[in-house]
Order: sequence, then C-alpha cells, then structure tokens
Amino acid sequence: MNDLLSRLVNGQSLSLDEWEALISCTMDDSELFALARKARDEIYGRKVFLRGLIEFTSFCRNDCYYCGIRHSNKHAERYRLEEKEIIECCIAGYEAGFRSFVLQGGEDLYFTDERMVSIIRAIKEKMPDSALTVSIGERTEESYRLMKEAGADRYLLRHETADREHYSILHPASLSFDDRIKCLENLKKLGYQTGAGMMVGSPGSSFRTLAEDMLFIESLKPEMVGIGPFIPHHDTPFAHCRMGSVSLTLRMIALVRLLDPHIMLPSTTALGTADSNGTIKGLEAGANVIMPNITPIGERRKYTLYDNKKITGSEAGENIAALSSLLESCGYEASLTRGDCIRQ
Ligand code: 5AD
Repeated sequence: MNDLLSRLVNGQSLSLDEWEALISCTMDDSELFALARKARDEIYGRKVFLRGLIEFTSFCRNDCYYCGIRHSNKHAERYRLEEKEIIECCIAGYEAGFRSFVLQGGEDLYFTDERMVSIIRAIKEKMPDSALTVSIGERTEESYRLMKEAGADRYLLRHETADREHYSILHPASLSFDDRIKCLENLKKLGYQTGAGMMVGSPGSSFRTLAEDMLFIESLKPEMVGIGPFIPHHDTPFAHCRMGSVSLTLRMIALVRLLDPHIMLPSTTALGTADSNGTIKGLEAGANVIMPNITPIGERRKYTLYDNKKITGSEAGENIAALSSLLESCGYEASLTRGDCIRQ
C-alpha cells in the first residue's frame, strides 16, 4: 500500500505537502475505495441515509461566479415557496417515509429570522421525530442561534475552498473567506451538526487547494462534508470553464472517509449529474447519504445551479421505491431514519 495511505488509515496526520502528494499520486483507486468502504461499513454498515431535499427559494443576493442562481443571472427563473408550501412539502415527504429533511435555498432576504423560525417550529412540531437541516448561506450568529433554538438540528454551508486566494477567484470581493469560516465556526459552537464541503475542479483549484481542504476539514471536524465536481452553467462567468473530474471527486470522497470515518458523506447531485452512474460510484467510494429532491416538480427544474442538473432517477423524491431497489441491487439498504452522525 502507498505509504501515505497507510499512515492515513492508521489515524496519523498528514502535512499539506503529504496531502498534496496523496491526492495527486498515480494509483489504482480500487484499493483506496475498498478501504473507504470498510471504514464506513464499520460505523454505518451498508445503510444509505436518505434525506428529502426542498429547494425552497431560488432568489439569491450573492454573485458567486460559478452558480447558476447568482444574483446577476437575469435569465434564472426565480421562485420562492411560501411557508405553507414548504411545510406541505415536508408533510408529503413524511408520508412517503422520510424522517430527515433539508431546507435549502439561495440567500433570500425574504426569509427573515422570524419567517425561518416559524417554518422550523412548525415542521418540528408536526414531525418531531424528524431531523431538520437548514442550508441558506451566511447569516449572523444570532440568526443561527434563533434557528437552532427553533429546532434546527443541522446546517450545511460548504466552505467551497479552504484557500483564501482561490476563494477570491470564485467569489466577488463582497464575499469574504473569513466571513465564511467564521460562519462555520459559529455553527459548530452553537451545537449544529455542521456540514462543510467543496467543489472539485472549480476554476483556479489545484491539488494544493484540495490538500488545504483536507487540513481544513481535519481542524473544523464537521459532521458532514458535501463534495461534488464543478459543472459549468452557461449563464455564469465560468460558462466556458472545464468540468471537474469525476474520478478526482471520488478520490476526495474516499480520502475524507478515511480522514474521519464518522463524517456523513453525501453522494451529491453534481456527481450524479456529471456521470450517469455517479450516485452509485459515490457510494462505492465511501459516501453514505443521498438527498432525493422533494421540491414540487414545477419548481424543481428552476433551481439550476449548473447545466443539466439531475432531477430524475436517484435524485427524484417520488421514486424512493425505485431508489431503494437500486441500492439493494448494489448491496446497500436505504434508510429513512434521521441518520445522525455517530461520533465516538
Ligand atoms: N457546479 C457544481 N456545484 C455547484 N454549486 C454551485 N454551483 C455549482 C456548480 N456550477 C454547489 C456549491 C454550493 C452548493 C449549493 O452547490 O458548492 O455550495
């Protein structure tokens, strides 16, 4: 076995240079993936945790250069679900069996703390045995606190890149790397199960920036990490940039699994979009979460972060029976439980 890989498996820390060497080395990834699956199976078994994803607003005040729903994209179709619709969507998901929901949206100022608190309270009151994840970007510590007190269990906020220079290539000057990291620290401090994450192959990324991501994940100790390939969107400044590599994305998933085997790792929609078999490949590299989309069908296609975003098959919330049998045929078992991160 590669010496760096065996050190990782033995729980030793790697330096930035060592991470870069491991991420970039030529190796047959089948051994790496087998180790990642073993690490996952020892903790979570063959269960794949399903979370119902509700993309409830495509309005966004930010202008991230990679994202299709960036503020400046005048072609993006904007929609917003009302409180009642969001709750109905969760109830329909609950009736279908989901016990874990993710409320995701752009940074839409319509959703004030008051509105978010009311939505979160209502969902937790009606479905107290469900876990609720919120993912609506950067907010004040006070806002995160209010949502936590209202009953939110988890928060997803990808760090996007742990390299300051790279962060400024991906975002306009109005968005700051320090603010992003501060938000993640606040979320951890408030007791959220916190999700970080990054795109693989975004413009300006390198093996070095991915190595920095690994060190960042090691120090933050997030409960969840979302990793997907960068996929260009035609109405963004990055329209003509190359898509991120699927095999490098899979390698990163496996390495994060080995870095901290307890992390909940989704096989992301971007991975399922970039490769027709990407969802299963993600599981085979060590992922253990899938987030089927339960947004009302009429709005679903409008939440286009990148071109050809998958809204069918394993990404479609209506098909959990089909998804469960697909998982079963691959030796996995779909789980509709809360799916909390198990920490030692
Ligand atoms: N390609 C891949 N992932 C993207 N995201 C946004 N735009 C893209 C894109 N073009 C990811 C970001 C964000 C998450 C909601 O979606 O990492 O945090």
